[in-house]
Amino acid sequence: MAKLNFGGVEENVVTREEFPLSKAQQVLKNETVAVIGYGVQGPGQALNQKDNGINVIVGQRKDSKTWDKAIRDGFVPGETLFEIEEALQKGTIICYLLSDAAQIALWPTVKKHLTPGKALYFSHGFGITFNEQTGIVPPKDVDVFLVAPKGSGTSLRRMFLQGRGLNSSYAIYQDATGKAFDRVVALGIAVGSGYLFETDFKKEVYSDLTGERGTLMGAIQGIFAAQYEVLRAKGHTPSEAFNETVEELTQSLMPLVAENGMDWMYANCSTTAQRGALDWWKKFRDATKPVFSELYESVATGKESQRSIDSNSQPDYREKLEAELKELRESEIWQAGKTVRSLRPENQKAAAGEGTSSTKEVFRKQALKSESIG
Ligand SMILES: NC(=O)c1ccc[n+]([C@@H]2O[C@H](COP(=O)([O-])OP(=O)(O)OC[C@H]3O[C@@H](n4cnc5c(N)ncnc54)[C@H](OP(=O)(O)O)[C@@H]3O)[C@@H](O)[C@H]2O)c1
Repeated sequence: MAKLNFGGVEENVVTREEFPLSKAQQVLKNETVAVIGYGVQGPGQALNQKDNGINVIVGQRKDSKTWDKAIRDGFVPGETLFEIEEALQKGTIICYLLSDAAQIALWPTVKKHLTPGKALYFSHGFGITFNEQTGIVPPKDVDVFLVAPKGSGTSLRRMFLQGRGLNSSYAIYQDATGKAFDRVVALGIAVGSGYLFETDFKKEVYSDLTGERGTLMGAIQGIFAAQYEVLRAKGHTPSEAFNETVEELTQSLMPLVAENGMDWMYANCSTTAQRGALDWWKKFRDATKPVFSELYESVATGKESQRSIDSNSQPDYREKLEAELKELRESEIWQAGKTVRSLRPENQKAAAGEGTSSTKEVFRKQALKSESIG
């Protein structure tokens, strides 16, 4: 394991040079990896492992669209695709990739098949860390570890096909066999990680829940909405407000930040932008930091996990969720965004490629309609 310096702090990481795919194949050569669940992470992890020469099977409930998707992706019923219980019985490593709520519901079944020496693999620290709420307490004689790709299962697969890799964290909760480290790192490499950094189950879930409620989704949507609403209240058009709030960020700045960092962005923008951004960033930090502290506390005390379990297990969860998503979808900012995206030259070209000049007309009308909202 290499120790690398991250901004002055040394951390354990495992790179592909150090732990090549050939070593992962060697470690996993006698294992049957059962990927339970074929939602978002399931396909990415199962297909990448299959393409990497790992003996992987999928466990998925039958008579669902997801079962059909697994078949379309090349898994064969009775050979590499099974009902969940059969896959649990066949697998020596159980990759528990059902939704977090379903993991609680299916736990008694999974536990039955965790015979000594098997391994239980997660992609999230949720079930284990909040085990007083989830009831997920594995037997002592199995390995328990996680590999958490830092992104969607869709990106994991897409980046694998592009010859790239998504970074993942890994953690060992229980090493019953003495082989947990080799097993978890081999799996991390086999699912297509770029490199792996070390964490523990608690830190993984605390940072993950904070991140998605914070800058990855919740905080960013909140800041988008706040700036957009101020610009609109001051008489700016939806086009202008959306372009200055979202489009310029996602289309121009963030790809550059991804490539070079925000420090580079600050050094390579106009002097006017530079002066203003230097003057204002600390105000935004100070205004939002108390909210982030409150959020972290809410995660650490188990309030967020309980809320997630309670709301996900309600029978009318889907309808309530749909109403909330509809509100977001129909808000002016994201309706304006839809039109702005349709006007991107590449999207216009794609539409024109279909050979209809009327498509352009639709875009023009959509744009006009959006300009008149509110
Ligand atoms: N989403 C991501 O990209 C991502 C990223 C990092 C980590 N993770 C972690 O990876 C794990 C899997 O997440 P995910 O987003 O891939 O899950 P997901 O898409 O929500 O999982 C859906 C899977 O669970 C099955 N399922 C749901 N309810 C079920 C039930 N009652 N009985 C049997 N099967 C049921 C679904 O089958 P049906 O289709 O038949 O309902 C489907 O196979 C989670 O621990 C998550 O936190 C996810």
